[in-house]
Amino acid sequence: MKNWKRYTITAALPYANGPKHIGHLAGAYLPADIYVRYLRAQKRDVVFVCGSDEHGTAITIQAIQENTTPRAIIDKYHGLIKDSFDKLGIAFDIYHRTSEPLHHETAQEFFLDFYNKGLFKEVTSEQYFDEEKKVFLADRYIVGTCPNCAYENAFGDQCEKCGKALSPSELINPRSTLSGNKPVLRETKHWYLPLNEYEPWLKQWLIRDHAKDWKQNVYGQSKSWIDAGLQPRAMTRDGEWGVKVPLPNAEGKVLYVWFDAPIGYISATKQWAKENNKSWELYWKDSDTRLIHFVGKDNIVFHCIIFPVMLHMHGDYIVPDNVPANEFLNLEGDKMSTSRKWSVEMHEYIEDFPDKADELRYVLCSIAPETKDSEFTWKDYQTRVNSELVAILGNLVNRVMVLTDKFFDNKVPQAGECSELKTFITTQREKISDSLEHFHFREALSEMLNVARHGNQLLSEKEPWKLIKTDKEATAIVLYDCLQIIANLGILCEPFLPFTSKKIFTMLNLDERNFAWADAGRQDLLKVNHQLGKASLLYQKLEDEVIEAQIAKLKKTIDHGPMTAEKTNTAVQSKIENRKSEIEFDDFTKLDLRVGTILTAEKVEKADKLLKLSVDLGFETRTIVSGIAEHFKPEDLIGLQVSVVSNLAPRKIRGIESKGMILLAEDAEGKLHFVSPKELTTNGSVIR
Ligand code: 2FM
Ligand code: ZN
Repeated sequence: MKNWKRYTITAALPYANGPKHIGHLAGAYLPADIYVRYLRAQKRDVVFVCGSDEHGTAITIQAIQENTTPRAIIDKYHGLIKDSFDKLGIAFDIYHRTSEPLHHETAQEFFLDFYNKGLFKEVTSEQYFDEEKKVFLADRYIVGTCPNCAYENAFGDQCEKCGKALSPSELINPRSTLSGNKPVLRETKHWYLPLNEYEPWLKQWLIRDHAKDWKQNVYGQSKSWIDAGLQPRAMTRDGEWGVKVPLPNAEGKVLYVWFDAPIGYISATKQWAKENNKSWELYWKDSDTRLIHFVGKDNIVFHCIIFPVMLHMHGDYIVPDNVPANEFLNLEGDKMSTSRKWSVEMHEYIEDFPDKADELRYVLCSIAPETKDSEFTWKDYQTRVNSELVAILGNLVNRVMVLTDKFFDNKVPQAGECSELKTFITTQREKISDSLEHFHFREALSEMLNVARHGNQLLSEKEPWKLIKTDKEATAIVLYDCLQIIANLGILCEPFLPFTSKKIFTMLNLDERNFAWADAGRQDLLKVNHQLGKASLLYQKLEDEVIEAQIAKLKKTIDHGPMTAEKTNTAVQSKIENRKSEIEFDDFTKLDLRVGTILTAEKVEKADKLLKLSVDLGFETRTIVSGIAEHFKPEDLIGLQVSVVSNLAPRKIRGIESKGMILLAEDAEGKLHFVSPKELTTNGSVIR
C-alpha cells in the first residue's frame, strides 16, 4: 500500500432542509469519524471536512411550499445538524456552508476554468415555466394526462399508471404541481458537462486502479453506470437560489447543486486552512494526499463519476482514492424516512438520551450497512447496549476499579510484565488497524470488544475477590494486568467510543494526549503506584420502559393523519427519485416469479408489523413472513392469489425462516395493494 503523506477525508454535505436521521449517521458520518479518529491516533496528517449543502431545487421548492425563503430554511437546519453532529462526537475539522462567499467563489472558479477551456457544451432547449411561481419546472413538478393510457396524473418523466417513460412535452394538459396552472414553454440555455467524452478515462481509472480495492457495491454501481454509456449532463439551472453562473448575460442562472456541492469540500478545506495557517492546496493537489469520500449509496454516482471527472477536467486536482459508501439502514422493518416520519432523528435521540452518544455509536457501528442494507430496532439497541457495552466493557472497568480501590488503596499495584498479555493486545491492535484500513468497521469494533472480553475472562478465572484472602501478590498481578487492559482499551476504543475513552482516561487519572495508537500493546501504560481517579459507571442498563416508549413514539408518529395534497406529492416524488437504474434482461430473468395462494395468515408475536403466511406455490407450500400486518387483517387474506418472488434466499425474521417475498404495490399514501392475477389461475404459474 502506498505510503500516504496526508489524508483529506470528506463526509457528504447534508442538505440543510431538514433534520438528519440515524440512517444518515450510520451511512456516512460515523464511519468517516471512526476512520479519522483512527488516523489522528496514529498521528497522521488529516483534514476532515463537511458542511451544509444549502442549494438545489428541493430547497427552493420547499421554500415556495412553506411560504418562506431558502435562507430561513437553511439557517434553521444548519445549526441543528451541526449541533447534533457535535453531540454525537463527529469531530469534523470544519463544518462549512455552501452559502458562504468563499464557496461561491470556488465553485465559480471551477465553472470558469471549464468555460474558458471550452469544455462545456451549450444547449438551448424548451422547458416548462410556471408563470405564477416564476420558476422553471423540473420534470417531476409537472403532471398531466398520459398520452399512452389517459391517466390524468402522470408525471413529466413517467406515467405511474402504465409505466411509460415520458418527457413533459408529451403530457396532455400539463399542470404545474406548484400552482396547478398550465405551464408555458420557454427557451432556456444551459451548460452541459460532456461526461461521454470522459468515458475512456473513467473506465481506465476505475477498472485498472479500483477493481480490487473498492467495495463491491461501489465498484459495481459505478461500473454499470459507465457500461450503460454516459450522457452530457446540464451543470446549470434556471433560478435565483444558488451559485450564480459567472458569465455576462446569465442572469437567472445558477450552478446545478451537484456541480457546486462537492466543490464544497474544497471550499471547506480552504476555510479550515485559512483558520489554521495551512496550505489547502497540499490537501487537494499533492499526489501524496489520499482523498476519501464517505457517502451513502444514493451518492455513489456523484462521487465516483461526476466529481472525479470534474477534478480530472480541471487538471490540477487529485481524484478520490476510495469511496467506501454504505448501503441503507432501515428502521423496524421499513425504510427510514423523515418525510414519512418513520425515522429516529439525530437531535431527537440526543434529547431523549442525553449522554448516550457512545451507546448509539456502538450500536450503529455493530449493525452498519457495510455490504447490504441493515436494520435498526429499538429492542436490538437495548440488547446490544445491555449485553455488550454494559455487561462486557462497563462491567470490566467497574469491577477492576472497585477491587483496586478496595485492596490496593486505588493505586496501581506492584507486578511484573506479562509478555502473553502484551502479545495479545498488540495482535488485537493490528487486527483492528487492518479492519479499519479496509473499512470493515463492524469487524474492527468486535475485535476491540474482544480485548474487554479477555479482561473479564481473566477476572473470572482468577477471582481476585477470593484470591486476596490467600495471596495478595497474585491478586496484585491480576489487577495490574486488568488495569493495563483498561488503559489499552482507552486507546483502542477511542475511534468508536470517544466519550467512553475520555471517561476511562479520567478514571485512570491519565492524560489521553500522552498516548497514541502505537502505544496500544504496551503493558506499562500505568506505572506502579500510580494514583487512580474516581470510579464511575461507564454505562447504565437500558430498562424496558425506555425502549417501549421509543417504539410507542414511532408508532404514534407514523399515524399522523390524512395525507395532504402536498404530502402526496412529496411521497410520489420521493418514489420517483428512488427509481432504480436500468438493468439487463438477464438480471430480470434471474427472478423466479410465481402465482401462489395464501392458505393461512397469522400475526407474529411481539412484531406488530409482521404476518406469517403459508403460501401454496403449486410445487410446494412456503412460509413467508411479510411486513404487512398494519395494512391487512390476517383473516382477509386467506384464499387470496398473489405474486411471489419464489427464489429469494431464505431469511430468518424474528426466528421464523421466510422463504420468498410477496409483491405489493405501494401508492403515494403508503397504502399497499396486492399484485394479483386478474383471473384465478393455477398456483405455481410463472409470471413473466
Ligand atoms: O444527498 C445529499 O444529502 C447531498 N446533499 C450530498 C452532497 S455530497 C457532496 F457532494 F457535497
Ligand atoms: Zn400512462
